[in-house]
Amino acid sequence: MPDIQIMPSILAADFGQLAEGCRRAEAAGADQIHVDVMDGVFVPNISFGPEAVKASVAAVSIPQNVHLMITKPQNYIQAFSEAGSDTIQIHVESRCDVQETLAVIRALGKRPAITINPETPVESIFECLENRWVDEVLVMSVHPGFGGQKYLAVAEEKIAAIRRMADWVDIAIDGGIDDVTVVPAAAAGANLFVAGSFLFKQDDMKSAVSNLRATAQEHFCKAL
Ligand code: DX5
Ligand code: ZN
Repeated sequence: MPDIQIMPSILAADFGQLAEGCRRAEAAGADQIHVDVMDGVFVPNISFGPEAVKASVAAVSIPQNVHLMITKPQNYIQAFSEAGSDTIQIHVESRCDVQETLAVIRALGKRPAITINPETPVESIFECLENRWVDEVLVMSVHPGFGGQKYLAVAEEKIAAIRRMADWVDIAIDGGIDDVTVVPAAAAGANLFVAGSFLFKQDDMKSAVSNLRATAQEHFCKAL
């Protein structure tokens, strides 16, 4: 069974106290920090650049899971690698040579991941799995760009298809994850859970992280 991990998204943290938000997530038992990078073109919002990853690296010792919602990720892999990213997620919908960009991520010693939007057919990432260009797939359960959106169950059939094809791959789900939506997501085969607004609004983030992890463990792959 792949590791079940919880990855708080610092998009939901207080931007005036980002380092504190990262430390709060780590102290709550988070497995990785999820950093949402948005360029205002690929998605209708602008968020962090490599400097934010550096600040997170300086604040905590858990890995940095960096989600590039940018049009030309190939131009920024070096910068995000040097900033201290551990996993770098590029979108299959972005304007790049996916195979080549994933190979660059791996050559830099980072974990390559492919990300897929709700409206994109799951088949578009099959070659990444068949050829093992990736260690991780990130399935979007919202339209990327903003935190706090409603969970889209369309992600579940994609996750199930990916899990049936590849038991070795880490499958992350991102968008609208809370103590209810974690159940069908885990049942479909997801093992990494990004959660932003749900975790950062908690008074007791530590209990919320361990409850999410325990619920996911209980339901993992049950729908398959
Ligand atoms: C959306 C981002 C998500 C977002 C999740 O574009 O990729 O990572 O921060 O936020 P919640 O958990 O609030 O939906
Ligand atoms: Zn994200």
